[in-house]
Amino acid sequence: MGLQLHSPLVASSGPVTGDPRMWRRLEEAGAGAIVLPSLFEEEIEQDARNVGFALDQGVDSFGEAQSFLPGIDMPEVGPAKHLGLVERAREQLSIPVIASLNGTTPGGWVRYARHLVDAGAHAIELNLYDIVVDPAVTSSEVEHRYVELVEEVRAEVRVPLAVKLSPWFSALGSMAMRLQAAGADALVLFNRLYQPDIDLDSLTVVSRLQLSTSSEVRLPLHWIATLHGRLSCSLAASSGVHDGADALKLLLAGADVVMSTSALLRHGPEHLRVMEHFIREWMVERDYDSVDQLRGSVSRGNVPDPQVYERANYHQVIHSWAPGAHR
Ligand SMILES: Cc1cc2nc3c(=O)[nH]c(=O)nc-3n(C[C@H](O)[C@H](O)[C@H](O)COP(=O)(O)O)c2cc1C
Repeated sequence: MGLQLHSPLVASSGPVTGDPRMWRRLEEAGAGAIVLPSLFEEEIEQDARNVGFALDQGVDSFGEAQSFLPGIDMPEVGPAKHLGLVERAREQLSIPVIASLNGTTPGGWVRYARHLVDAGAHAIELNLYDIVVDPAVTSSEVEHRYVELVEEVRAEVRVPLAVKLSPWFSALGSMAMRLQAAGADALVLFNRLYQPDIDLDSLTVVSRLQLSTSSEVRLPLHWIATLHGRLSCSLAASSGVHDGADALKLLLAGADVVMSTSALLRHGPEHLRVMEHFIREWMVERDYDSVDQLRGSVSRGNVPDPQVYERANYHQVIHSWAPGAHR
C-alpha cells in the first residue's frame, strides 16, 4: 500500500498495540508496523451528541452563553484520548503507525480519518465490521454502503488506506475490486466475527471472547491465494496467525503482510521474533534471499493445478475421506 516495511510481520489492532508499554517491545521484536486499536463510529457519534448536549445546556441558561463556548474544557475521553494515543505512538516508534477507524455507515464521523492523520498516523485502516440482521436489507444495499464509506474516507485523507472486511460475501472477488476502485490501497483479509454462545445452565447468551487458533488461517490463506495477482492493491492476512509456519504459508499464498493479535496476547510481543526466526531459517534452507522471491509462489495463479482453490477441490476432498484415516 505504499509503506516501506522492514518486516512483513505486523501487529494487528488489539490490546497489545493499545498499550504504550508494549510499543517498544513490539518494535524491538521486529514488528514491521503496528495497527492501533480502533476508534469506533459509535464513540465519535456519542462524543458529538455529548458536545451538542453540553452546548445546548449553556445556550438555554445564559443570554451571552455563546461567548463562553470557546472556553469550554472538554475532558480527554473517547476520540480526543484516541488522538493522543496516535500522537504518543508516533513519538515513541520509528516503525509505521497505522490508525484504525471502525464503522459501517457513511457520515460526518469519517472526518476523524483526517484527525488521525493530523495526529501522526502513517496510514488508516478502515474496519467494516458489520452484522446485517435485517432480512429486508439486500446484499447490494450493504455493498453499496461499504463502497460509499470507503469513498468518503478516501476523500478525507491522502495517506494509504487499508480496508478490513469480513469473508462473508457472495462474490468476494468482485467486492474486492469495488473497494479497490473506491480508493482502498490494501485489503485486510479478514475480520474475525465474534459469535455469541448460549449458556445451558442460565439460558442466557454469553459473549465470550475466545482467541483464535492456527486452524483459522485457512480462510485468509484461501482468499489471498485466490486474489493474489488479480488486484493492484496490497493484501494483508489477519486471523489465525500464531506461528512462523502460519505466516510463511500466507506469504507463499501471496500476502504482502501477515498480521497477528491473538498470538501476541498469548505469548507477548517477543513472539514476533520467534516467528521471524522460523521464516528466516526456512528461507536459508531453501536459498531464498528475500520475501519477495517467495511471495505468491503458491497462489492460485502460480500452482500447476489452480483447481485446488476451487469447487473441484471440495469434491475431491469430501471423497477423500476413508474410515480411520482422518482422526
Ligand atoms: C481483544 C481483542 C481486541 C481487538 N480489537 C480490535 C480493534 O479495536 N479493531 C480491529 O480492527 N480489530 C480488533 N481486533 C481484531 C484483531 O485485530 C484481529 O483481526 C483478529 O483478532 C484476528 O486475528 P488473530 O487471529 O491474530 O487474533 C481485536 C481482537 C482482540 C482479540
